[in-house]
Amino acid sequence: MRIIVTGATGMLGQDVLRVLAAQGHECLGTSSADFDLRDAAAVLAAVKAFQPEAIVHCAAWTAVDAAESEPVACCAVNGMGTLNIARAAVAVNARLLYISTDYIFDGSGDTPREEYDKPNPRNVYGLSKLQGEEAVRSLTSRHFILRVSWLFGHGGGNFVETIRRLGQEKSQITVVDDQIGSPTYTLDLARLIAQMIITERYGTYNVTNEGFCSFADFARVILRADGSRCRVIPIPSSQYPSAARRPLNSRLSKRSLDENSFPRLPIWEDALRRYIVGD
Ligand SMILES: NC(=O)c1ccc[n+]([C@@H]2O[C@H](COP(=O)([O-])OP(=O)(O)OC[C@H]3O[C@@H](n4cnc5c(N)ncnc54)[C@H](OP(=O)(O)O)[C@@H]3O)[C@@H](O)[C@H]2O)c1
Repeated sequence: MRIIVTGATGMLGQDVLRVLAAQGHECLGTSSADFDLRDAAAVLAAVKAFQPEAIVHCAAWTAVDAAESEPVACCAVNGMGTLNIARAAVAVNARLLYISTDYIFDGSGDTPREEYDKPNPRNVYGLSKLQGEEAVRSLTSRHFILRVSWLFGHGGGNFVETIRRLGQEKSQITVVDDQIGSPTYTLDLARLIAQMIITERYGTYNVTNEGFCSFADFARVILRADGSRCRVIPIPSSQYPSAARRPLNSRLSKRSLDENSFPRLPIWEDALRRYIVGD
């Protein structure tokens, strides 16, 4: 297939581009150097020039805390920018796969969120990504919306690398233990995206590595895998002030994957082990 991957310089986009190209697809990876998502004419021109059969839209404003002080700019990229991508996809009759987030939910309760549960974002970034979802849903039925969480991968700075660095520098660190979710390896996610995009099993999917943990649990496993003796002191989110509120319950149900016969991703500890050894 001819496929455009937006955000191809980003952590997820790099893996998506690599996996799709390795499978023989004819790919065009784009970043802000090729076009700004907010520029509708530039988006349409680039998409029309390549004539893709599919677009995997990984590009986004991902600075969650900065979004609180720059809501208009964040929503312009994630909301309007995604609308521009969806319009361009419709113009060339391409299917569209959009990457969304667990942050569209409010994090209440302690059970996994179903795909059909009502979104209720608690921060500007979550709101902007929900605007992107709504743009995609309203413009094209030929869409996949993937809500992913807690990404780590070789193509960008991430929680795993932060903890590994701190583990070399400090004897103990404080990490929040009341946000529960699922770490997700971008390479595993990219492989599933490659499986999905060649089908017509459209819809909204929660996609993460299997298993739930807190950030404190995640940090402990990272440090152990690295052979670090640094201790993790668990703290509540209230003792870790940040501009954006984060959902406490980021557990996501995998009902759509199961019902549409897509495989679940491997458990997160296995994904982390492969990431650390370089697979
Ligand atoms: N990271 C996470 O933990 C996480 C969790 C849930 C969901 N997600 C979602 O997963 C996707 C990938 O995230 P990521 O962490 O891999 O992203 P990332 O590393 O921050 O990369 C963002 C990409 O978007 C591009 N971009 C940003 N603003 C743009 C604009 N105005 N016009 C065109 N391109 C623009 C960047 O291009 P330049 O390099 O040119 O700036 C870059 O390629 C995003 O949709 C994000 O919302 C991420």
